[in-house]
Amino acid sequence: MTAILYGSPAPGLTEIPPGATQVSPLVVGSQDLAALADASVDQAVILGPGAVLERDYVLAQALRVLAPGARLLVFAPKDKGGSRLKKALESFGCTVVEDARKHHRFCSVKRPVQLTGVAEAIAAGGPRIVPGLDAWSQPGVFSWDRLDPGSARLIAALPTLSGHGADLGCGVGLLAQKVLTSPAVTSLACLDIDRRAVACAEHNLNDPRATIRWADVRQWDDSLVGLDFVVMNPPFHDGGTEDRDLGVAFVRTAARMLRRGGVCWLVANRHLPYEAALAAAFESATVRDDAGGYKIIEARK
Ligand SMILES: C[S@@+](CC[C@H](N)C(=O)[O-])C[C@H]1O[C@@H](n2cnc3c(N)ncnc32)[C@H](O)[C@@H]1O
Repeated sequence: MTAILYGSPAPGLTEIPPGATQVSPLVVGSQDLAALADASVDQAVILGPGAVLERDYVLAQALRVLAPGARLLVFAPKDKGGSRLKKALESFGCTVVEDARKHHRFCSVKRPVQLTGVAEAIAAGGPRIVPGLDAWSQPGVFSWDRLDPGSARLIAALPTLSGHGADLGCGVGLLAQKVLTSPAVTSLACLDIDRRAVACAEHNLNDPRATIRWADVRQWDDSLVGLDFVVMNPPFHDGGTEDRDLGVAFVRTAARMLRRGGVCWLVANRHLPYEAALAAAFESATVRDDAGGYKIIEARK
């Protein structure tokens, strides 16, 4: 029996089929759902994403890879898309049994022989060149169809960088594109935890100086050291919940990567208190811009 799991449900929330293959793009090393063959899976358990295009893409891919008659369980917190799951599944031609517990909605279906709208949902949620960005992106990646205002501020504030550097949490690579406009940059390692973002960055950063890695900055193995610079717009959400430790982990990893005197340029929402982490890991940290709810910080090791 082949079973797949999408996402990391809280322990005890539901039964996970033993040996299920993880297919969430946010788990480094997971299998890509889009690469699985039609009707090749016997069971799927999915923690449904909240955003519509991303959710419908995942549901459509799951229905595509399930064999007719195979079981699909989809669930989500009631206030994060759970109450809309039944309708979404019905729109693909499924008959849904719905259940509510532990603030979640659970929808159970048997994959029907005839599906409707699956190809359309896969096309609408798949990777493509987004005209407004002029870059590859995909629903579900950070700020997928517009340049994030914080990143825009950092791009505007960046000086001309040089030497070896890294972009932590590179997303689809828009900040990295700006860094690589400097001919004095000799290498740029771009890291992100999201496989979809990494795949788009591969298209968007077609430059021999750029290397793109699918990696969790919190578990970085210290294989990059002695860098001249780091740029980053650190995340502060993990699985939709604010997690300030995530940004702090980015600050610490950036400091470990830099040589003495190396510089880290970062943008942070004004309310995020990175000062203590910066003071502990860097020799100095200077606010270079503070406007529109964002701080641009230059930290020197
Ligand atoms: C605020 S976005 C910035 C994206 C991009 N640099 C930009 O400016 O548009 C933060 C990025 O960090 C990534 N991320 C979140 N947690 C991560 C982790 N633990 N390790 C690596 N990347 C992570 C997210 O997938 C997201 O692309």
